[in-house]
Amino acid sequence: MKNNKLFILVSLTMVCLTVYLFATAPPPLDDGLKKQGIQLPVSVLFNIIAEENNVARSIYTKEIVTQGKKSGLKFSEDWQDKTVEAGPLPALFLRAVSQALERKPVPVSLFLGSDFPISSANAFDGQQNKIFQKIKRVPHKPAFFYTEGIKRHVAMFPDFAIAAACVDCHNKHPDTPKKDWKLGDVMGATTWLYPDETLSIEEIMQTVAVLRSCFKEVYSGYLQKTQSFTSPPEIGDKWPADGYYLPSEKVFFTRYEQQASRETMRILLAKIHAQ
Ligand code: HEC
Repeated sequence: MKNNKLFILVSLTMVCLTVYLFATAPPPLDDGLKKQGIQLPVSVLFNIIAEENNVARSIYTKEIVTQGKKSGLKFSEDWQDKTVEAGPLPALFLRAVSQALERKPVPVSLFLGSDFPISSANAFDGQQNKIFQKIKRVPHKPAFFYTEGIKRHVAMFPDFAIAAACVDCHNKHPDTPKKDWKLGDVMGATTWLYPDETLSIEEIMQTVAVLRSCFKEVYSGYLQKTQSFTSPPEIGDKWPADGYYLPSEKVFFTRYEQQASRETMRILLAKIHAQ
């Protein structure tokens, strides 16, 4: 690609990132924008949102759940029960994000599925299960395909048992259909759905901004809940690694956005450069 065209595209990308990712409330998408500019394949969107989700999940699992348990915070599958003084397990954090996404005006959806799920609502079936079996054989590759029945492009990213806690909790759970998970197994797949084959950069950024707003909603819902505990953790700029504290929404998201924006920018620019 010619340098000046690349320069224009890179500048356009920077503008989009600024407008969509750093605005407090993303502006509604102008219909006219949808058909303008370059169109990128839906796999670019999937790679970006999978990376955004990895960053959020990793910070939540390592910095909040794992460190929090050491500092006296509790996490449970019944966390939404008023009488339970606990926060969401990582899988339930994701479930809450996916429910928040369903209520937003972007046509993207998310679910964490498995062939041996604790919750039968998370079972893969039909074509999805067939492709999931392939992913298990070549576990480091995500799969991208189209499902005619629901008219959706689908991306499945393998979800590995990366910690002993994954395996222990699942093997011991009263509802698990499988009791011999091992470290490193593909326990499931984070699955994303989107209706269109291509999108503009604006649409990608809009979707990322909406996904981020869902992470925020769920995290602040958890923070709010902790304030009803008998002994509420202090919310501010400290993390559970420092003691019985939780980072405020702003502190949590500053860390998340710095890491995620770098990744998103990298994927987007690599793709544009290759066009
Ligand atoms: C303390 C217990 C616990 C830990 C630790 C845990 N999980 Fe789970 N996980 C659950 C529960 C409970 C569900 C079902 C949630 C629901 O109702 O949707 C679940 C759901 C899932 C699902 C969706 C399919 C299913 O089983 O319903 C996958 C995939 C999954 N977990 C993978 C992991 C991985 C990978 C890790 C480690 C990084 C992990 N889990 C850590 C308890 C746990």
